[in-house]
Amino acid sequence: MESVEYPDWIIYYSLNALQLMMKSSFQAIHWAGSSLQLLDQRRLPHDEIYLDFTEASAVAGAIRDMVVRGAPAIGITAAYAVVLAARQHTTSALADWRTPLLKDIQQLSEARPTAVNLVWALKRMQRCLSRVSDDPVVTLLDEAKQIHQEDIEANRQMGEWGANLIAKGDSVLTYCNAGSLATGGYGTALGVVRSAWAAHKLVRVFAGETRPWLQGARLTAWELLRDEIPVTLITDNAAAFLMQKQQVQWVITGADRVAANGDVVNKIGTYPLALACRYHGVKMMVAAPLSTLDMEMPAGSEVIIEQRPEAEVLEQAGRRIAARGASAWNPAFDVTPAALVDYLVTEAGVIAAPDTAKLAAFHPGLPSA
Ligand code: MRU
Repeated sequence: MESVEYPDWIIYYSLNALQLMMKSSFQAIHWAGSSLQLLDQRRLPHDEIYLDFTEASAVAGAIRDMVVRGAPAIGITAAYAVVLAARQHTTSALADWRTPLLKDIQQLSEARPTAVNLVWALKRMQRCLSRVSDDPVVTLLDEAKQIHQEDIEANRQMGEWGANLIAKGDSVLTYCNAGSLATGGYGTALGVVRSAWAAHKLVRVFAGETRPWLQGARLTAWELLRDEIPVTLITDNAAAFLMQKQQVQWVITGADRVAANGDVVNKIGTYPLALACRYHGVKMMVAAPLSTLDMEMPAGSEVIIEQRPEAEVLEQAGRRIAARGASAWNPAFDVTPAALVDYLVTEAGVIAAPDTAKLAAFHPGLPSA
């Protein structure tokens, strides 16, 4: 049979199309030119609805109300919100646009207290602001896009480092959602899962449903299935039994903040997973970009843990499920001591058994907040 010669450009464009098809076909955070569009994560997996924002104060509300969530994602969102604030205050006839802009930045920084990426991104935007004297919008937009792009690149790199640790035939349990939805794209923990899956290493991916917001059942399952990665859900309280049955070799999570001593602050329920891992000889991997490392925070015990409304525990889909009169304690995050973490994976490399000395030695490579 005669072979057909294709011109280079056809091959080039076909490869690009293939790469595009392989990418998740959604973007949780989208800069639309003059507004910010956020995929409303409260409505997933049933409805894919984008909300349009033109004001920073509305974006602060969206972060607080979980329209967008996940540490890197809320940092990126807040960076774009600073651009919205700059547009708003420079187009109004105000001579002093800096004062209301700084007020908006302050409001954004208070939207959620635990994820360090939020203040990290806002400090970066503020540093950028201090370098401009006239119209700041273009410069701020460039910076926000840069933060977004860097996060995707960091995730891809972490995916590779993390997947290298996984042996062929392993199975993993992930928790909450540390995927494309929680980041600029690709994900931290789910970035590792994606890369390990692509390398044909993983047998099974389990996800904990993650009470009370069900990020595992609603979001992780949704985005893995979109990438055609099969996922098996477990109730949160089935995790230790899954380990006892030797069904997983790894627990892989993201982080909202990693303290200077290596303690990991992440979704409530991460700590009991790490405890069970140690007992059962399952490895605990935490994948987090450098922007999640907080070298000014000596230990996880000093991090402010967000307390969320009781109703999130007492009700489901707006309907009360708890006995009338019961109250609820609803911390959104817990602290996993560094001693329970086997690997901390960042875009700059992997730290095995992280501790204060190892993080400090690693520190010179860290971009300061
Ligand atoms: O309350 P959430 O959904 O914002 O909590 C998210 C998590 O705990 C994630 O694991 C963490 O932010 C890392 S996301 C890459």
